[in-house]
Amino acid sequence: MRPYIVAIFNQKGGISKTTTSTNLAVCLAAHGKSVVVIDLDSQGDSTKSLGVDPGVKRGVYDLFVGQAEVDQVVLPTIFENLRILPSTYSLAGIEIKLSELKDSQRTLTNILSHSILDCDYVVIDCPPALGILPINALAAAHAVIIPVTATPYANDGLMRTLPSIKYVQEGLNKNLLLQGVLFTINERNKTTRKINRLIRSRLGGTVYEAEIPRDTVVIEAATARLPVCVYAPRSQASMAHLNFTREFLDRHAKIAAKAGIAVTEPVSREDALVTLGRWQGQLADRVDRPEGERVKQKRHQLDRMLYGDRTPLERAHLWLVHFFIDNRLSLAAFLLVVLVAMAAVIGIGVEGVRMLAGAIGLS
Ligand SMILES: Nc1ncnc2c1ncn2[C@@H]1O[C@H](COP(=O)(O)OP(=O)(O)OP(=O)(O)O)[C@@H](O)[C@H]1O
Ligand SMILES: [Mg+2]
Repeated sequence: MRPYIVAIFNQKGGISKTTTSTNLAVCLAAHGKSVVVIDLDSQGDSTKSLGVDPGVKRGVYDLFVGQAEVDQVVLPTIFENLRILPSTYSLAGIEIKLSELKDSQRTLTNILSHSILDCDYVVIDCPPALGILPINALAAAHAVIIPVTATPYANDGLMRTLPSIKYVQEGLNKNLLLQGVLFTINERNKTTRKINRLIRSRLGGTVYEAEIPRDTVVIEAATARLPVCVYAPRSQASMAHLNFTREFLDRHAKIAAKAGIAVTEPVSREDALVTLGRWQGQLADRVDRPEGERVKQKRHQLDRMLYGDRTPLERAHLWLVHFFIDNRLSLAAFLLVVLVAMAAVIGIGVEGVRMLAGAIGLS
């Protein structure tokens, strides 16, 4: 069972799959475990969050289509013990490509069984919806974790996700274990508590004790392209992720013990926190960068995307259009000036015609 492969999956979008994957991965690494993240989402969010550019030459796509081997694709991250099989933008086209291949639902299983990923844990960040990529993840994994956000639609997400897992358990991967359900982006209000209680009463011990609270620092961390456990190790959200990681490790230790496999003890929670604090210190320039500077950087990136390969005239035109979109009052003033100028030109024109007619004796 080495490495222990876990897929983070829910068909619903925006419920913290990527945040859970990257924070679990850094927390495991901080506990002294060696980890590889597989980013199966063409959005590349976990790739970016671990400091890797999705513009890299090779990624998961090349693995899936057989154009590269695992050791040509796997990259180190800014964190020791943690590597990544990154997503690249080309991954968006994988569905069509895989539909042409035989046994396409087992592509990842075959890749992982033919290569040696020397690590303790593989964490797979799945894209939302049930496509060929999540099916590949579930087929290759030992276990699956479902993040759930307690909204009135949370149940719908779960009710669509559980049958997909069952489908894989009945065919592609009989050993796939539902390791747990994790409440994420948890609000502190009555409705949330009610929904959480309902789900806990249905799923019992499958639900982790740890609940990840909604915390704006998670969004700040995402803007700085860091997992919150590194960005602010002692924040509430980080502590909750750390608690979840400890539970995850406990559950895995029990599963391994049942299978007669020995796993090495992780370092203590306090030591893991020290490592996260050290990483935070090493990345201080990102953590401390003032908000204004980050916004400026984002604007610069956007400008490059918008104006990148246009002629100076097109750029000036676009700049003017955007300027007026941003400054509607200026547009009104500009139109007023144009109107006055036109009136003046017309006025001068009429007067000019009259003067000319007088000069040649027509009036
Ligand atoms: N605990 C939290 N508190 C506040 N915001 C959070 C929290 N967890 C995640 N978020 C934010 O919610 C948004 C969605 O999170 P994330 O990208 O992890 O979800 P996802 O399920 O991977 O989304 P997708 O389905 O698009 O892949 C992000 O902006 C993230 O920063
Ligand atoms: Mg995601």
